[in-house]
Amino acid sequence: MTGFASRTDDIAPFQVMAILQQAQALASQGVDVIHLEVGEPDFTTPEPITQAAIKALNEGKTHYTPALGLPELRQAIADFYQSRYGVAVSANRIAITPGASGALLLLMAARLEAGDELLMADPGYPCNRHFARVFEAHGRLIPTTADSGFQLTTEHIKQHWNQDASKAVLVASPANPTGAMIPHQQLEQIAQQTRELGGELWVDEIYHGLTYHDLDENEAEGRTEGKCPQTALALGDDVVVINSFSKYFGMTGWRLGWMVVPEYYIPVIERLAQNLFLAPPTPSQYGALSAFSEDSLTIMEGRRLELQQRRDYLLTELPKLGFKIPVIPDGAFYIYADASELTQDSQAFCEQLLQDTGVALTPGFDFGEQNAHLYIRFAYTTNIERLQQAISRIKAWLE
Ligand SMILES: Cc1ncc(COP(=O)(O)O)c(C=O)c1O
Repeated sequence: MTGFASRTDDIAPFQVMAILQQAQALASQGVDVIHLEVGEPDFTTPEPITQAAIKALNEGKTHYTPALGLPELRQAIADFYQSRYGVAVSANRIAITPGASGALLLLMAARLEAGDELLMADPGYPCNRHFARVFEAHGRLIPTTADSGFQLTTEHIKQHWNQDASKAVLVASPANPTGAMIPHQQLEQIAQQTRELGGELWVDEIYHGLTYHDLDENEAEGRTEGKCPQTALALGDDVVVINSFSKYFGMTGWRLGWMVVPEYYIPVIERLAQNLFLAPPTPSQYGALSAFSEDSLTIMEGRRLELQQRRDYLLTELPKLGFKIPVIPDGAFYIYADASELTQDSQAFCEQLLQDTGVALTPGFDFGEQNAHLYIRFAYTTNIERLQQAISRIKAWLE
């Protein structure tokens, strides 16, 4: 096929799609597939959110909203920063978007020139470099190791910063595929380093809320210690934060996210949003207005505890099977396991494992280039009984 823009050649499909297709084919033959490859938990959206959206639909709230989103939702998000993190953020700095994906797209459209570089960690979320590519910019993958929790450090940034081309640093904390957080103090140093280089720091906080330690503990520690889940917005008004209702709020299919930007970005982001999307989805926004209610937060807290249980189970069982876990995940719902004792080809390993046992995993290739052939991502997005079944199937298969 010809005639496609050359940028499309650089946008790789998700490798996991091959696994998903294989899984679907097996399921259609009656095989019981255990899905540990998908990046969304099995939980459905909390009931108060769904009910609020249904009510809005019944009331005929089906028209466009302002391009930056409902003013009351922008305010509710600002209030959440105050109540959860103790950080004052003006609602005027918040743009509601179609998922974090929409936020990343608008941000890159607004800030990246052709040829600009965006620094990011390898391994990392694969779409980021593809978004940059759409705008003729370059997602610069910086190889990281377990020593830095597979996260960027100030040293990485200093070493890889190209004064002529580098524009911004994009990190995620907790990250996909590792679940690793950047300690707040380290993030502060990264923000400072990036400023000194004349760049921007963009922090993807989509997995915030899904961290496996006690919020009160962090409060007692002044939220400056190691793995504290403080928002990067506390680091200064020049830091951009991307977030979403997809993960913590259980709303992947509703396509709703947001970003917090310096106030002077807003007119440009608004103009781009008007042109690219018109507005974020209306019923989703009315639903999301209930996402910060006590009832919803209680449901989400219960789910966080369940995810923590699942994580802890896999952290105990996977090493017994020969998987090494070089970085203990602080959050999200992923474990990035080193399978080098079991295979030198994680893609073939995952395909064979699925074929023989019905357990679906994601090989490292989806997340970057470095040592991807040795790594496998386990997503604990299914209940503990299914995880137990998966472990016993993998065990029997390896034996
Ligand atoms: C790190 C990260 N950022 C952004 C996204 C996009 O999420 P959404 O567009 O559903 O908000 C994902 C989805 O998996 C992700 O893992």
